[in-house]
Amino acid sequence: MTFTAEAFSLKGKPAFITGAGSGIGRAIALGFAACGADVACFDRDADAARATAELISTAHGRSIGIAGDVTSPDSLAEAVRTAVETLGPIRTAVNCAGVADATAAEDMPAEDFRRVVDINLTGVFLSAQAEARVMLAQGGGSIINIASMSGTIANRGLLQAHYNASKAGVMHLTKSLATEWADRGVRVNSISPGYTLTPMNKRPEVAERLKAYAADTPLGRIAEVEEMAGPAVFLASDAASFVTGCDLVVDGGYVCW
Ligand SMILES: NC(=O)c1ccc[n+]([C@@H]2O[C@H](COP(=O)([O-])OP(=O)(O)OC[C@H]3O[C@@H](n4cnc5c(N)ncnc54)[C@H](O)[C@@H]3O)[C@@H](O)[C@H]2O)c1
Repeated sequence: MTFTAEAFSLKGKPAFITGAGSGIGRAIALGFAACGADVACFDRDADAARATAELISTAHGRSIGIAGDVTSPDSLAEAVRTAVETLGPIRTAVNCAGVADATAAEDMPAEDFRRVVDINLTGVFLSAQAEARVMLAQGGGSIINIASMSGTIANRGLLQAHYNASKAGVMHLTKSLATEWADRGVRVNSISPGYTLTPMNKRPEVAERLKAYAADTPLGRIAEVEEMAGPAVFLASDAASFVTGCDLVVDGGYVCW
């Protein structure tokens, strides 16, 4: 086996990306396109999904925006079908759709807890299931689930037991799916971002703490969205051909302290 830079290319590997209408998902969609992939941009915000697809079509190559909800198996099945019909069998996928808010655990209504787990954890499972049905049939693929460092640490000052639990679930779901599908050529990994400048972090309970979070990060700042693209490209590409069941922490060193 000879290693070449081509191993990092995503050319000929159509991608399906959830949560591609904003923040980290949009940045990863653009990063995949820059590395040669045609990209299906899935988001519950139809205009945002279309806007990402237009950015890709202008700068790089083929892309489509698809509206849908990660909590609905039917919506995902239909979207994956559309992606395959338009771009060809999907070879890579990134499950990035997610939500966050904050409430003290003792006051959190059951429906709030269920809603966050439904989107962040069940939604990742249903997305991976729909994507793997294509990948397993074709004998290979790479799925990347976006977890969070909040799956490992409890964020100081943020009252989000539901969110943290959902992200810990994504990390272990990833390992479970990786072992289940390894012998059929489908790799499954997660990325755990640290604090990243996105609309999610404009919510007041985070925005007012960002300076403190930057100071608590060995690299001394929080991440730009584009800094999540390289790690995702790596995991999607043949350069990561022996990497499965891994959680890649991309947090500027935050969890080291
Ligand atoms: N921003 C951070 O600091 C940070 C840190 C760690 C992990 N993450 C994770 O990264 C992912 C992206 O976060 P972001 O900061 O880019 O947020 P964001 O709010 O900018 O983007 C999230 C996207 O997901 C979409 N979405 C939400 N619910 C959906 C649903 N049910 N079906 C389809 N699409 C849906 C939204 O419309 C939005 O476009 C999330 O899973 C988040 O938990 C973010």
